[in-house]
Amino acid sequence: MIRTFLAFFILISNVILAQNTLNLIPYPQKVQTLQGEFAIPDIFILSGELPKEETEYFKKRTGSQLEFQYAQKGEDIHLIHSVIPPVSAADAEEKKEYYALEISPKQIHIKSYTRQGYFLALQTLIQIIDQYKDTKKIPVMKIEDQPKFAWRGMHLDVCRHFFTVDEVKQYIDYLAMYKLNTFHWHLTDDQGWRIEIKKYPKLTQIGSKRKESMIGAYVDNTFDGKPYGPYFYTQEDIKDVVKYAHERHITVVPEIEMPGHALAALAAYPELACTKGPFEPATKWGVFDDVFCPKDETFTFLENVLDEVMQLFPSKYIHIGGDECPKTRWKECTHCQELIKKNNLKDEHGLQSYFIHRIEKYVNSKGRKIIGWDEILEGGLAPNAAVMSWTGVNGGIEAAKSKHFAVMTPGAYCYFDHYQGDPQSEPNAFGGFTPLDKVYAYNPIPSELNAEQAQYIMGVQANLWTEYILDFKHVQYMIFPRLMALSEVGWGTSDPKKYKEFENRVISQFKVLDNMQVNYAKSIYNIIGKVVPANNGIAYELSTSQNSKGIRYTLDGTNPTINSKTYQNAVQIPNSLTIKSAYFEEGQLKSAVSAQEFTVSKTTGKNITLEQQPNENYSFGGAFTLVDGIIGNVKQLGKTWLGFQGKDVLATIDLGKKTAFTEVYFNTLENKGSWIHLAKSAKIFISDDNTNFKLIKEIGTAEIQDAHGKIKVNVGTQNAKYLKVTIENAGIIPAGNPGADSKAWLFVDEIGIN
Ligand code: ACM
Ligand code: ZN
Repeated sequence: MIRTFLAFFILISNVILAQNTLNLIPYPQKVQTLQGEFAIPDIFILSGELPKEETEYFKKRTGSQLEFQYAQKGEDIHLIHSVIPPVSAADAEEKKEYYALEISPKQIHIKSYTRQGYFLALQTLIQIIDQYKDTKKIPVMKIEDQPKFAWRGMHLDVCRHFFTVDEVKQYIDYLAMYKLNTFHWHLTDDQGWRIEIKKYPKLTQIGSKRKESMIGAYVDNTFDGKPYGPYFYTQEDIKDVVKYAHERHITVVPEIEMPGHALAALAAYPELACTKGPFEPATKWGVFDDVFCPKDETFTFLENVLDEVMQLFPSKYIHIGGDECPKTRWKECTHCQELIKKNNLKDEHGLQSYFIHRIEKYVNSKGRKIIGWDEILEGGLAPNAAVMSWTGVNGGIEAAKSKHFAVMTPGAYCYFDHYQGDPQSEPNAFGGFTPLDKVYAYNPIPSELNAEQAQYIMGVQANLWTEYILDFKHVQYMIFPRLMALSEVGWGTSDPKKYKEFENRVISQFKVLDNMQVNYAKSIYNIIGKVVPANNGIAYELSTSQNSKGIRYTLDGTNPTINSKTYQNAVQIPNSLTIKSAYFEEGQLKSAVSAQEFTVSKTTGKNITLEQQPNENYSFGGAFTLVDGIIGNVKQLGKTWLGFQGKDVLATIDLGKKTAFTEVYFNTLENKGSWIHLAKSAKIFISDDNTNFKLIKEIGTAEIQDAHGKIKVNVGTQNAKYLKVTIENAGIIPAGNPGADSKAWLFVDEIGIN
């Protein structure tokens, strides 16, 4: 009795130990470490019955640490594999990624239903061997594992910037290492057509190059003057990549964009547009009005293109894009308008739906399915289509509720072109703020779904758009380490409450990436600042993934040194100043220096409420961001701005007591290419009871335009307890602008008074 109890106790304590010490990502569903060790032999004997390609991969990955030999008669075998027979077709489908990995003192035994399961087990074994390579002794353990989600994807945009076959293969290797199973290859867009189509050679002759490219921040509106391309993959290249991915049990899903993001194709074949052209592949980033015109000739073209694409890619799903298609041209096109009438469509959104339905029918007729960005829900979803939910989670929810499959890839959590650290210490990025812990905290199952509806969530994916990513080193930087968080979210073993423990495993994996010379981001070491309300004003909290006692800071604008103040508690910010901070270890500077400028006014740190909330992608800090003392950087939409799509800002600030002031200021941003427009108007009100408000100032469109959105107005001498500021969104984007007909974005950074 006592012995059983003791054995049980040892087992449990080892399970706990394993949780803390095994550096596996994604962490397996079930791990038990037991007493004893498996000594990694000098020569690792394999039995001859292991699946060949997978075993060769294993040998290659561990080859620098191990020497291998296939077993001769009578020799002890170090690695064996058994195939478990499924009991039914459903069982086979459900268990195809299952594996058991049993490490006993003499032998490693892998059990799986499929070669894919065996491959996944080897990935786990590679991480274990790597962890114990110094002692060459692996704890005896049993792992049983299987992913929660069937679709665990990473996307790569090769249109804005091109990446070679070799680089794409490296990317696929990263997916395999962390047990992702889907590579979404974004092959066509306005700025470049990157796949050879034999029937339409001009697609790559004309569409694979552009005159020049935008450089720097979008608002700089600067171009490099250098021709880009021709860059494309030949069909032989594509076959090579698909085969390479297949050997790693990764499905490649190609994306051919339609009806929008089609400028490169229209440059080659202008007859497929609503107007005559000529067109050129885009040199700017953004969304463009010239899109495919839904005429028979266009459908014939797209069907022929898809025929060649389906020949090259064996995937069940073909991604047909469907996002960001302005309706400007369709509204003015006689053919489009007649088509709307003839088919009794409601409007141009109905035409978008007609377009996707017709393509779906064709793709289905070839035994494949379509998946598209969530705008394919516009005007009614095609009967068998799956939805990739990117503008938020609503697309996925709507799809699942109507029994359509969905992949969750919401911008706020899954866009790896967003900043992952404080924007001022990061390379130029698209915008947004999606640090590692945010990705890790994502739950792909929206809480709005019941268990049955949740079955339609196929999985999760992160997207890497490459407008601001010029080379592969930068690709590595943007995906690592966030890919590891995505991997564990998709596997279903992430737990945001154990983020610190996950972060330690990430830091252990950095050694693996170092050995592979991968340029991963070290942003988690950098200091993250957070403004908090304190003492009727604000304080600045500093944190790092490392020991926070190593943080030093200054308030006088000088760079911190080892002699600067040590960070203890949130630093009170009494007036306008710049705080600079950095992380030191053993007397050495270990991080970038972070600098934050504060502009303190009488609203700073006060209570603020918003009647309408900002968009999730641009909501960092919530309403408080408007009184946090930080003026937004116009080149970085990361943390300091709130973004409202199609909504007004309706802000009420409780100043705490009657407060005298004569000036009100706020900034709104203009970046028409990104659909960000200056406010149409603004109004300023005061109140003493938070009920009866008196209008004290109106600001019109012309005044806002003249000030380029930087509003600073004299309001006379006022004395009030409540301030209300309403800032009117530009509304629907007018014709002639990028994103015409869509809801404009309104970006606001701060509301201050003096
Ligand atoms: C997208 O980010 N336009 C799908
Ligand atoms: Zn048309």
